[in-house]
Amino acid sequence: MAAPLIAPSILSADFARLGEEVRAITIAGADWIHIDVMDGHFVPNLTIGPSVVKALRPHSAKPFDVHLMVSPVDVYLEAFAAAGADIITVHPEAGPHVHRTVQAIRALGKKAGIALNPGTPAKTLDYLIDEIDLVLVMSVNPGFGGQSFITNQLRKIEAVRKMIEKSGRAIHLEVDGGIDAVTARLCTDAGADALVAGTASFKGGPEQYAANIAALKGTV
Ligand code: DX5
Ligand code: ZN
Repeated sequence: MAAPLIAPSILSADFARLGEEVRAITIAGADWIHIDVMDGHFVPNLTIGPSVVKALRPHSAKPFDVHLMVSPVDVYLEAFAAAGADIITVHPEAGPHVHRTVQAIRALGKKAGIALNPGTPAKTLDYLIDEIDLVLVMSVNPGFGGQSFITNQLRKIEAVRKMIEKSGRAIHLEVDGGIDAVTARLCTDAGADALVAGTASFKGGPEQYAANIAALKGTV
């Protein structure tokens, strides 16, 4: 099986040096830059907005994988698209009408992702799968980095992989939360092709980033 794409979450980067951190993780081999946007309402934490995404855009040529944990979300899509997002992922629970949200993301010329919380079933995708470019299986409850991987989400990854195969469409299957070298392998065995990793990407400082990413890809 091909090595998974690695999307380091900048939530675990040094926020006082964010541009440098994005450059360093890009040079170290990141495939995508994962940006966790939290609103203090849909999830119990506050992080960054479109102006930070815009400021970071010149620091990496890699796709910006923007994970919106924001409710309601539609009103912010245009701002994140303009700021330089390439993939925009939303939660169905963020409402009010997730199908409309997906259409809006694609109308902005961006790739659309659907995030499934640990308690959200795979069948939520039934009437969305023909319109999306990515599924993000949350292996922790959203809100914070550094949480433990919830093992029963592996069954969901397997189920989503089957749905993607059946659709015949090129849809990425990404997993987010508690990813380290061990859980990375469990996820790719279950059918994931992209992995978000915050803690495991940024641990040890910039000299360690290349080794961290290689370990997550399983190439060391
Ligand atoms: C959680 C975020 C994750 C998180 C991952 O709400 O969506 O992207 O930062 O962090 P780690 O890899 O530390 O579990
Ligand atoms: Zn995320």
